[in-house]
Amino acid sequence: MNAPSVPAKTIADPNALPSYLNADNLGPWGNYLQQVDRVAPYLGSLARWIETLKRPKRALIVDVPIELDNGTVAHFEGYRVQHNLSRGPGKGGVRFHQDVTLSEVMALSAWMSVKNAAVNVPYGGAKGGIRVDPKLLSRAELERLTRRYTSEIGFIIGPNKDIPAPDVNTNEQVMAWMMDTYSMNSGSTSTGVVTGKPISLGGSLGRKEATGRGVFVVGTEAAKHLNIDIVGARVVVQGLGNVGGVAAKLFHEAGARVISAQDHKGIVYAPNGIDVPALLEHVSRHGSVEGYPTEPLDSDAFWALECEFLIPAALESQITEKNAPFVRARMVIEGANGPTTPAADDILRERNILVAPDVIANAGGVTVSYFEWVQDFSSFFWSEDEINQRLVRIMQEAFGAVWQVAQDNRVTLRTATFIVACTRILQAREMRGLYP
Ligand SMILES: NC(=O)c1ccc[n+]([C@@H]2O[C@H](COP(=O)([O-])OP(=O)(O)OC[C@H]3O[C@@H](n4cnc5c(N)ncnc54)[C@H](O)[C@@H]3O)[C@@H](O)[C@H]2O)c1
Repeated sequence: MNAPSVPAKTIADPNALPSYLNADNLGPWGNYLQQVDRVAPYLGSLARWIETLKRPKRALIVDVPIELDNGTVAHFEGYRVQHNLSRGPGKGGVRFHQDVTLSEVMALSAWMSVKNAAVNVPYGGAKGGIRVDPKLLSRAELERLTRRYTSEIGFIIGPNKDIPAPDVNTNEQVMAWMMDTYSMNSGSTSTGVVTGKPISLGGSLGRKEATGRGVFVVGTEAAKHLNIDIVGARVVVQGLGNVGGVAAKLFHEAGARVISAQDHKGIVYAPNGIDVPALLEHVSRHGSVEGYPTEPLDSDAFWALECEFLIPAALESQITEKNAPFVRARMVIEGANGPTTPAADDILRERNILVAPDVIANAGGVTVSYFEWVQDFSSFFWSEDEINQRLVRIMQEAFGAVWQVAQDNRVTLRTATFIVACTRILQAREMRGLYP
């Protein structure tokens, strides 16, 4: 006799959270889950696979002990999360920050799945991080930390498995140490294990500027739809690092006025436009905007500045229900990952402020990371012009497709990007089928 069929819900609650998360304090992962829920009605029959997107495929937590220069031993918590590998190997950065949590790395890995599918590069989504303030470490300590972390996550990364890259507080030197450690452990030089490497070690021309360039391309494409002229447009940027610094420079070069910039130490404000190259020179010399001549402006006033482009390019959850009602930008271009909470998203939509979401706006970095990986496999390197042209074309096409989906379905650009991306991911999932 056949066993009576049991409703799936009694076997596994489809809304169950992984037991390792605290339902009362979901952090950025909670924001991501809300974004996924918003896309479900647009997935048709693929919605049956949506739970796949609500659980990371693999989450590794590692202890990273290092000997400090003073002879004591310090332990740091490290993570590597692979959210979804249906479309290819994992791809996503490594963040060194004292506030990194598992929830944050999970959300960042999921946004990588969405982003990679949105620009149609053949990757799944992954992310890594260490809970550390790297500014408190010497260079030698930072190297030991990076090498030990790479060894600890070594068995789940690799050129065909999962390819890390730089993120907040990591750079091409950190990538060089990761590449070297992985290569020493595996017995052969493996340039394709990370991207964002120095050019001399198989890095790609244009990679360092790629994310900021993508932000600029998406900003200018969105501006065309809103009839905004870049020349003379006012730009406000949070974060002047790899992403925000390059975006500010490109907007400045195109004739826009960057009127304010905020970083972890201060805010600069010049209503007629900041001399961006001089400010970036100051930041590279002193580590922050602090000390640069400025008119006074406090943090609340920063978010309320009237401008055409507001570019959050620092950390997540910066535009919240508290400051979103005061934002006076025509559009928000998300350079950072997850800078706008779902509640703030709703407020901005009601106030008719366009949001170009992270999952498309900052996809330039991973696009050129993909170029780097391809170049490493073939050991054949392209010119910077070729790279920038291909990057601009991919970003314009991807943004154009997302814009059209948003118009067709009368949804925000974020939901439209999730529709495009989640459809691609779940189609791959369905075609591959469940193993075994
Ligand atoms: N680097 C990339 O290629 C890339 C690609 C996609 C997305 N992102 C995202 O862009 C964001 C920035 O990354 P990055 O590579 O430019 O990092 P970065 O370390 O080069 O720069 C970070 C910037 O943010 C500022 N900042 C840090 N904390 C701040 C705070 N509390 N308030 C205001 N400013 C603060 C820092 O002063 C610095 O200017 C992150 O969300 C990252 O995930 C980066």
